Amino acid sequence: FGTMLYDPGYYNTAVCKSEITYIDGDRGILEYRGYPIEELAEKSSFLEVAYLLIYGDLPNINQLNLWTTKIMNHTFIHENLIQLMKSFRYDAHPMGMLISSMSAMSTFYPEANPALAGVDIYKNKLLMNKQIFRILGKLPTIAACAYRHRIGRPYNNPTDTLSYTENFLYMLDRLSETSYKPHPTLTRALDKLFIIHADHELNCSTATMRQISSTLVDPYTAVAGSAGALYGPLHGGANEAVLRMLESIGTKDNIPNFLQLVKQKKQRLMGFGHRVYKSYDPRAKILKKVTEEVFELLGKNPLMEIATELERIALSDSYFIDRQLYPNVDFYSGIIYKSMGFPTDMFPVLFSIPRAAGWLAHWVEELQDPDLRIFRPRQIYLGKRGCKYVPLSGRP
Ligand code: CMC
Repeated sequence: FGTMLYDPGYYNTAVCKSEITYIDGDRGILEYRGYPIEELAEKSSFLEVAYLLIYGDLPNINQLNLWTTKIMNHTFIHENLIQLMKSFRYDAHPMGMLISSMSAMSTFYPEANPALAGVDIYKNKLLMNKQIFRILGKLPTIAACAYRHRIGRPYNNPTDTLSYTENFLYMLDRLSETSYKPHPTLTRALDKLFIIHADHELNCSTATMRQISSTLVDPYTAVAGSAGALYGPLHGGANEAVLRMLESIGTKDNIPNFLQLVKQKKQRLMGFGHRVYKSYDPRAKILKKVTEEVFELLGKNPLMEIATELERIALSDSYFIDRQLYPNVDFYSGIIYKSMGFPTDMFPVLFSIPRAAGWLAHWVEELQDPDLRIFRPRQIYLGKRGCKYVPLSGRP
């Protein structure tokens, strides 16, 4: 194959240099811009973490206030986008609605498209920031509209009198214009979930963000493409798949049979395994704690017993130990979302909202990287060559 390296799934290929997120998969360490994820989950807020990821440092009070105001000022979505969302089937998957709506946003903001605007967006920080405010501001609104559409209720307008996460919960379930206030424990739990999902270096959707953005297309199109990658059950759709798996297992007694099918490779243990973590995913540890906080308020979800027993049995089985398969972030997140009342198909949407901060951090870093070149991997061609065209009438 000459000088080319054959590396299916990019197991050993580094395609960029980055200063955003550090992972030590053997020791279960995750840091955003050098800050341990455990500390950020405990002490920070999602918007502060989004700022940290995108701009490289924790904001001071003025920077945080301005950042929050800018994002909350961009939470309304265009009336025509609402019409577009209304045109989806009543049972459309909310992730499909999110991806399409985000992609449609590129048609609302042509200033972000270098081909149409005639300017290089990456040379104009104000222009880049504006797209960041819009994407982070409007994603929860799109997600809430997708949810409301799914349950057949009218859409709620956002409010800037609440925090980012509170406003999202408010749009999902507003009961009255003035009195609705989401429970602080649930708001905090969701905010922590948003923090731990915000970035994870070159996971499949972030690699997609960098791949698409390397063409210099507008960030709405790139975020839509990244959300498409995230939707898959091996990536962000795993949280939805875990829930469906736990429900199909049904009782603790069925776990050994299920694991037998996994070992025979007839089933996959969803929410287990990771390309980088070869020990316990630190996010799964944080999630276990969040689960307890949510259960204290709402009561224990019966699926939790199946999940903990499944984990216990799997982690004492040589099949999983030898392959270094541990619970990942998706193993417990779905149970929390379910307990909070989210429908199962909203789970990947709940992953996409915070991950957009990571995608945008990589977008900014990539466009400012002097080494940026269009992503263009090579292939090992194994097909036929030199065939002679046979007219239709002459083919067997
Ligand atoms: N269940 C059963 N066996 C597994 C699993 C699993 N979940 N994951 C990996 N294996 C086995 C795999 O069959 C292979 O076995 P063998 O050596 O006998 O062929 C071995 O472990 C190595 O796996 P791999 O396919 O080389 O691992 P990968 O790095 O290509 O895949 C993964 C990583 C996350 C796609 C995979 O572990 C998986 O499918 N997990 C379930 C889906 C999931 O939970 N995804 C969420 C990932 S974390 C959050 C995110 O990124 O969104």
